[in-house]
Amino acid sequence: MNTAIYDVRNLTEEMLERAEVRGEAEARRATDTALEAVEEAARVIRRGGLVAFPTETVYGLGADAFNEAAVRRIYAAKGRPSDNPMIVHLARASDIGALAAALTPDTVRLIEGFWPGPLSIVVKKSAAVPDAVTGGLDSVAVRMPDDPVALALIRRAGTPIAAPSANLSGRPSPTAAEHVLRDLDGRVDAILAGNPCRVGIESTVLDLSEGRPVILRPGFVTADGIAALLGKSVETDPAIFTRDGDKDAARVPKSPGMKYRHYAPEAEMMVLEGARERVKSEMARLKTLNERLGRRVGTLLFEEKAFLEAAQGLFAELRALDDAGADLIIAGALSEDDALGFAVMNRMMKAAGYNIIRV
Ligand code: TXA
Ligand code: MG
Repeated sequence: MNTAIYDVRNLTEEMLERAEVRGEAEARRATDTALEAVEEAARVIRRGGLVAFPTETVYGLGADAFNEAAVRRIYAAKGRPSDNPMIVHLARASDIGALAAALTPDTVRLIEGFWPGPLSIVVKKSAAVPDAVTGGLDSVAVRMPDDPVALALIRRAGTPIAAPSANLSGRPSPTAAEHVLRDLDGRVDAILAGNPCRVGIESTVLDLSEGRPVILRPGFVTADGIAALLGKSVETDPAIFTRDGDKDAARVPKSPGMKYRHYAPEAEMMVLEGARERVKSEMARLKTLNERLGRRVGTLLFEEKAFLEAAQGLFAELRALDDAGADLIIAGALSEDDALGFAVMNRMMKAAGYNIIRV
C-alpha cells in the first residue's frame, strides 16, 4: 500500500491563533495548507480508509467508527488481537449521544470538566457502535482529544473515529511522527505527521459503565482530580497495582488492553527501585559489569520529579534504545507517590515484564 504522508506541523493552537485571531497572512497560508492536508485525510476516513494522526497523548490509527470493515482493517494494520477494544474519538462532546446507551450525571460532569483532554470514559454502548470497535463488549470507551489536528480531522470526516495507538502491536506507543512512519509506512492509507505529543502516555481510562467510577488505566488525568470533580471516591482496578504481571492470576484487568504483555523490548529490561543515589550507583555498576560480559547496555534515568518529561520521553527513549541494539536496558524507577509518576511507572514496569529490582 502506498501511504500518503502529510506535514501538518503548522496546525497548532498558536498558529491558529495567529491566523484566525491576529489575522497574520503568513500564518493563514501555513494553516490553510495544513488544513487542506487534513481534508484529504478526512476523505480517506469517509471512504473507509486508515489514517494515523496526532493527539495530545500519543498518535492514533483511525477509521470511521461506524464502518465495521474499516475498523477491522485497523487490527490487520497493527497486527493486533481483535478482541482488544478501541477508543472512539469525538470532535464535539455532545456527539457521545450517538455512542452511549445513556448519559449519567457523572459522565456529563466529567465531560465538562476534562474534555477535550486525555480522559477516556467507558460507558454502556448504544446499538450503533459496531462490535469490531468494542471487541464484543457491551461498553465503549470515548474521548475528545485536545489536539487541533485530531479535532479538525474528526470534524471534517463527519464521523467519530475509532483509534488505538498507531504502533505495530508490541512496539511502544508512538509519540512522534517518525515513530508512526517507522511502524506503519506502507500499512495505512495516510499519516498526518504533526508535532511530538505533549502528554506522551496514553489517556486515563475511566470505567463508568457500572455506576461506580473505576480507573482501568492510569494517565495524566488523575484519580484525585476525578474524585474532586465528582465529589466521590474513585477506585483503581487492582490489576494496575500488580508488580507481578501475569503471574498474579487473582488480578485480571477489566480493561482488555491491559492484559496483553505490552511493549516488551528485544532487550532484557530491568527497573531499579530505591534511593536515588543508590539507584545511580547500582545502575553504573551493573552497566560496567554487563558491558564486560560483552553486552550492549542502555540506561534510562529521568530527572527526579520530572514526571511530565518522563511521560513525554519514555516511549521515545525505549524506541531509541531498541534501535541502538541494546541487549539490556537498565531503567530507574520514578516515584509512584506522584500520580503521573504512577502512570509512567505502569508503562515502564510492563515494558520490563515486571522485572523490578530493589536496590
Ligand atoms: O491516549 C489514548 O488513549 C490513545 C490515543 C490514540 O487516543 N489511544 C490508545 O488506544 O491508547 P489503545 O487501543 O492503545 O488503548 C485503549 C485502551 C485499552 O487498554 C483497551 O482495553 C481500553 O482502552 N478499552 C477500550 N474500550 C474499552 C471498554 N469498552 N472497556 C474497557 N476498556 C476499554
Ligand atoms: Mg496501544
